Parts: sequence; structure tokens; C-alpha cells
Amino acid sequence: MCGIVGYIGYRDAFPIIIKGLQRLEYRGYDSAGIALFDGKDINLAKTKGKVEDLKNKASEISQKGSLGVGHTRWATHGVPNDVNSHPHYSNSGDLVIIHNGIIENYESIKKELSKRGYIFSSDTDTEVLVNLIEEVKKTEDVMLGKAVQLALNQVVGAYAIAVFDKRKPDEIVVAKLGSPLAIGIGEDEFFIASDASPFIEFTNNAVYLEDEEMAIIRLGKEIKLRKIKDDSVAYPRILELQMNLEEIEKGGYEHFMLKEIYEQPRAIKDTYRGRLHADQGLIRMAGIDQNLEKFTNANRIIIVACGTSWHAGLVAEYIFEDLARISVEVEYASEFRYRNPVITDKDVLIAISQSGETADTLAAIKLAKEKGAFVFGVCNVVGSTIARETDAGAYTHAGPEIGVASTKAFTTQITVLTLIALKLAKAKGVFSETKYHEYLTELETIPAKVERALESNPLIEIIANVYKDSTNCLYLGRGYNFPVALEGALKLKEISYIHAEGYPAAEMKHGPIALIDEHMPVFVIATKKGHYEKVVSNIQEIKSRKGKIIAIVTEGDEQVRDLADHVIEVPETLESLTPLLTTIPLQLLSYHIAVMRDCNVDQPRNLAKSVTVE
Ligand code: AGP
Repeated sequence: MCGIVGYIGYRDAFPIIIKGLQRLEYRGYDSAGIALFDGKDINLAKTKGKVEDLKNKASEISQKGSLGVGHTRWATHGVPNDVNSHPHYSNSGDLVIIHNGIIENYESIKKELSKRGYIFSSDTDTEVLVNLIEEVKKTEDVMLGKAVQLALNQVVGAYAIAVFDKRKPDEIVVAKLGSPLAIGIGEDEFFIASDASPFIEFTNNAVYLEDEEMAIIRLGKEIKLRKIKDDSVAYPRILELQMNLEEIEKGGYEHFMLKEIYEQPRAIKDTYRGRLHADQGLIRMAGIDQNLEKFTNANRIIIVACGTSWHAGLVAEYIFEDLARISVEVEYASEFRYRNPVITDKDVLIAISQSGETADTLAAIKLAKEKGAFVFGVCNVVGSTIARETDAGAYTHAGPEIGVASTKAFTTQITVLTLIALKLAKAKGVFSETKYHEYLTELETIPAKVERALESNPLIEIIANVYKDSTNCLYLGRGYNFPVALEGALKLKEISYIHAEGYPAAEMKHGPIALIDEHMPVFVIATKKGHYEKVVSNIQEIKSRKGKIIAIVTEGDEQVRDLADHVIEVPETLESLTPLLTTIPLQLLSYHIAVMRDCNVDQPRNLAKSVTVE
């Protein structure tokens, strides 16, 4: 997720764009840039770092002009540095673009443009796109709007773009597919942004482009909306916004955590975008493809992580051993780094970290590298320390996770790890074509199934109200859902401050069942796939001791419904994919309980988003 801002009108564009970028920094903050047209030339400044750094850098350029674009980046292609920052020029220097999204087929387009003499100064997909537009404009001899429309029909991926031509400075062209783009409509001025926060103080009249729509914004004229596919006319729906600034940054949600819980369908899709090709029976992951033998010949895979990422690692242990038949052990990074572990050059170490800055995980990586292991990173922050320290890796593309409690990081980490396990299962020949195809196809249904799981939110809020004053809670799961039980307990602990423990359901009889009485809520994951009957008997054991049972069940389950005090349904899926669904109600449950207890949901006490110290 990046933040884009544009302005065309009668005011000075610079302060509007800079302030707009500051309001969008929650969408991405590893680099920033601005381009202004001063009536004669385009003046552009961009830098690694935050918008504050851009303001310093921009002191070196003219800040004049009433036409401009700005960008705050969340890197997907190309590490965060000055040259990869946006905006990007076309080769002629006439066009300038900013872009939020991912162009999946940029490499093939780049190859073709290079053959035609184009040169590229950055590693980004965005610089390819602006030169594709330039090439189309030249070869078809068309206006900018038409060139954008034709070029985008050659592009696969997601985008929200704004582009202008210095030779026609009364016009900006914007287009949208998969990433948000709002147009603020003022008196003789227009604003462009990823959300309304950059322009809400100037106008509350806005048009939100729909997917596959573009707009030609010309001063003194009505905006012209077009369908990208066939250039047909579309009609702008002007909204009168009622939201305040804070509500806009949170996308209308009360907290970033809730926004990020609801972003999971899109985040999971972005994670497998360009990697999962179920129709072709393919999974493309450069970091794995280039190191396949290291994985398939490895003695074992060691997974190191902390907190929620460690729980994702536990899910991966079940997936890798069950599907790819590769031995896996999962370690707390903080323990691993000090216990003098046996590590050889036949080991592969996978480090999982949302922030890519967790000190214990980084130390574990360094230890493993010293002992000759191949180290692979699964991170969310492009160019983070862990991402740069590992031998190879795969990003989760979840977008910035602002809430301290990890939610979309967990489900996107599991998505990446599932893709890797499926690739290895195929490479090792332990999967038939049919079974492989079944998994790839089912994985593509997960975003829609997460949407369905989110629909239980009103019921979950009611259940949260029943248990918000509990002092202790138990979370139980078996198999793939044992790590989900741990994760659910961690969510509740860290944002509502209620003590909670996750356990393998079968472990109850080895002690914890002594805790069960009418004051103990027990959250049990009892989906149809995986040891269902055994979990049902665990539920009966709890019921016979008057424990309160809140069960996460597969849609249509009647048996557990008769036993539990409350049931929350999730759609059916393959057993190894159930964690992607069963975690959703537990995230929502901890969120609502924390809100009802007036806790600081996004910044819980004593916690930091990234633990960069031991
Ligand atoms: C989880 O909700 C917490 N925010 C915390 O446990 C977190 O998962 C842990 O600190 C690891 O962070 P990382 O993924 O950035 O390495």
C-alpha cells in the first residue's frame, strides 16, 4: 500500500501535496517524492525515508507550480532507496507518474521496451508503466488519456495511478484497478489521493473511481470518466463526504486493528497475486525457484520467529510435514540464539517477521548463517533489516500493519508458507497433479471465505459482551488449529489484558481441566476437518464441568451447536487452510472485548509494534 496525492488548480501545489502525504504516511513510509510543474519545467525531489526527509530534500528544488503529484511508498518491487522512490519520469522527461499497486507483468513489458531503446534507472514496475504509456503515446500518436487507456490494457496487476505531461499542464490522467483512488472536486481545482484525508479540508465533494475506471481531469472542465477496457463513457458519482480526518485514515473503522482485520481478504489476494496461477497449475516464487534444491535436499527446515510470527511458523510445521514431507522444527528465536543449537549446512532456516526488525529473530539468522545454513526470510516490510540479511525471501505484501496486534500479518505469512510448501510438495513429487490442482484452486477461494467469516462480526460482538469481564480464558485446538488457539490467546492477552492460555485440546486431561468451572470461558476450534470427533469429546469433558464453551465450527455444524454455549461458523475448506479462517473470529473477539474494556486497541500498554531490542 502506498499513498498518492495530486493537485491541479490555482493554489500552490507544494504545501497541499506535502501535507497530504503526511496524512497518508500510515499507508507506507519507506520513501517519498514530489514532482511539480512550474510553468516551464518539472521539478522533482524524492528520497528514501519519511515525508519529513522529503521536505528537506525538496528545499533543493523550486517549489512553485499549481500542478503536481506526490507519493509515499510501501515498497513492493525494488528496495527503498532514492532512485526507486516515486514519482518516476518517462525517458523523454515529459511524463511523470505516481503509482500505488503491483504490475505483475512488468518484466516482460520492460524487456520489450528495452529492445525499443528505453533505459531504466530504477528496479520498479512503475517506471516501466510510465515508459509504456510514453511508447503508446508516440507510436499511436494519441493524447495522454488515450495512451493511458491503451497502455493499461497491456498491463496485469493492481494500480492507482496519476500521470501528467508537461506539454499539456492543464490536465492530469488517473486510473484505478485494485488500489483506491479518490478525486476531490473543488471550485476550479481538483485533488487526487488514495483517500480523502489530503483534501477533506478543501472540499468534501469526491468521486471514488471504481475498478477499471480512469478519469481525464482538465482544468475548467468536468472530469471525463472512462472505462479502461473499451474507452466507453462512465458517469461520475459525486459523494458529499461526512467523515473527519481520523476516520478517513482508518478507512472509516474505529481502530487500525479492525481495519486490518477487514483488509485480510485483499491482503491474502495481494500475497498470492503474481505467484499463484491455479488455472495453469503453477506457483511462481523467484526466491524458491532459484534455491529449490536447497529446500528439497535439506535435512530439515528450522523456523525461527517471535510472537504471532512464531504461531505462523507452527502452522507451517504442520503444512510442510503433512504436505511436503519435509522435517520441520519451530523455535522461539530468543531461545534458539542462546541454546547452542546444532546447525549444519544441510539445514534451511526460515525466519518469519512482519516488521523485519525483531532483534531476536535477526540474531538467530546471523547464528544460522555463521554455521552455514541457507536462510530464507518471510517479511512484510520491503528492504527491512531481516529482508536484507537473509539469503533469499518472499514478501507478504500485506501493506503496513499499524495496529500493534498482528492480524493480516498472520494470515499473509501462512499464505506465503502454504505456497512454499505446495511448491516443495510438487517438486518432491509427493503430490499428484490432481491433489496439487485441488490445493491451488482452493487457495484462490480463501479471500471470499474470509469475507464470509467476517460476516459473523455482529454475533461475535454479542459474545464478546458476555465474556468481556472474564479474568481467565482457555483456547483449545487440535492439529492445524492448535497454533490458532495459541494465536487467539495471544490476541486476547495483548489487547484486553485478560489472562488467556492456548492448549492442544487433548492436553486438557493432563492438568488444565482442573481450571474448568462456570467462570472459565473456553474457546474451542472444532471445525469438521481434523480430529473433529476427538474435539467434540473434549467439549463434552468441559461441559460436564460447567465450563462455558464458545466453539468455532464449520458452517452447518449441528452436533457442536447442541453442546456449546455459543457457536461461530466459518466456511468449510481443506484442513491445512482452516487456520486462515478460524483465526478470523478470534481476532474479532479479542478486538471487541478490548474495546468494551476501554483498552488502547492499537497501542496496548507495554507493547511496541517492532521489538528491536532483546
Ligand atoms: C503479535 O500480535 C505481536 N505484535 C508480537 O507478538 C509480534 O508478533 C512479535 O513481536 C514479532 O514481530 P515481527 O513479526 O515483526 O517479528
